[in-house]
Amino acid sequence: QPRVFSGVQPTGNLHLGNYLGAVSRWVPLQDQMPTIFCVVDAHAITAGFPGRAELTNATREVTAAYMAAGIDPKRSIIFNQSQVREHMELAWVFNCVARMGWLNRMTQFKEKAGKNKENASVGLFAYPNLMAADILAYRATHVPVGDDQKQHLELTRDIAAKFNNDFADRIKELGLGVPNPTPSPELPEMLYFPMTEPMIAGPATRIMSLRDGTKKMSKSDASDLSRINLKDDADTISKKIKKAKTDPDALPSEVDGLEGRPEADNLVGIYAALAGSSKAEVLNAYGGQQFSAFKPALSDLAVEKLAPMTQEMRRLMGYPAEIDAVLKDGAEKAAAIAEPVLKDVRQIIGFLDVR
Ligand code: TYM
Repeated sequence: QPRVFSGVQPTGNLHLGNYLGAVSRWVPLQDQMPTIFCVVDAHAITAGFPGRAELTNATREVTAAYMAAGIDPKRSIIFNQSQVREHMELAWVFNCVARMGWLNRMTQFKEKAGKNKENASVGLFAYPNLMAADILAYRATHVPVGDDQKQHLELTRDIAAKFNNDFADRIKELGLGVPNPTPSPELPEMLYFPMTEPMIAGPATRIMSLRDGTKKMSKSDASDLSRINLKDDADTISKKIKKAKTDPDALPSEVDGLEGRPEADNLVGIYAALAGSSKAEVLNAYGGQQFSAFKPALSDLAVEKLAPMTQEMRRLMGYPAEIDAVLKDGAEKAAAIAEPVLKDVRQIIGFLDVR
């Protein structure tokens, strides 16, 4: 049974990359299959504990952003991760499934831990196991994310495959598996966890910093000019696009001409994603023009698309009790799916059930 799961961490500044690479792409999926969107607050403590008010506020803010972007709590489950204990429980099981070698290869850990790996939290190291648990606690099949999560989703598949293989006999004996839709010699015929499909597509899978086209736009970049925050007002958006780094040449007419021009490539990609078109279409319209002409057009488009959302986010933040009610309802629905899955997992493992 197809099911979408994705999430955003409530840390720092939600930005255009989060919106174009992830949240905006979730909206149409609501018409296609059951969707679960999580505010992953348990992930937000891996790089240090934020202040209490900071964390609760950021959790509500991400929720408000989901809703303002068009995630409908009537059609999607929206909840914050910490309220469904099954995530933590399954993550522990996956700590015992995943191998040290697999996690040692995670590039995001290396980036986030920096030079002083000895002082990184164990949680930061094990983070991808929690992410796999988020997804697999719902046996989700599709995960729409930006390009930077690709390696984590490969690990999720490795964990699912190892669990399915190691416990194949028990899964069969207990009658808990579903037929493997794509039989292969590497996997048993009955699977407990699905082999999740990453959904990483479109012109905005990797939005880059506005100050440096070789660096990802990120919540934690020290320079606020490097990113467009979802909370920025129209003037700030215009100013940041005006100041965005470019090269001196006119825009090319073909997508190939963007090669070796990371800043130009990034701005064209942002335009395409905001307009719901492709880089080729944008270059059809703007090829041969200078950035002095393209930037104002991009700025107008960004303001047109983002301002109503920013406004709605701000309005929603005025009603924290309503946001909390959405999260509560979502957590109950989420738990109703995850609880039976963990019950199965405990049975597969052989934990003695006495309560
Ligand atoms: P996070 O909170 O860093 O980012 C949220 C989403 O935004 C995408 N994204 C970007 N897309 C394009 N360009 C960028 N510059 C950019 N920066 C961020 C991310 O790819 C992501 O889709 N580990 C995840 C959260 C998570 C999760 C999950 C996701 C936890 N459990 C289960 C999916 C399924 C993270 O830290 O995302």
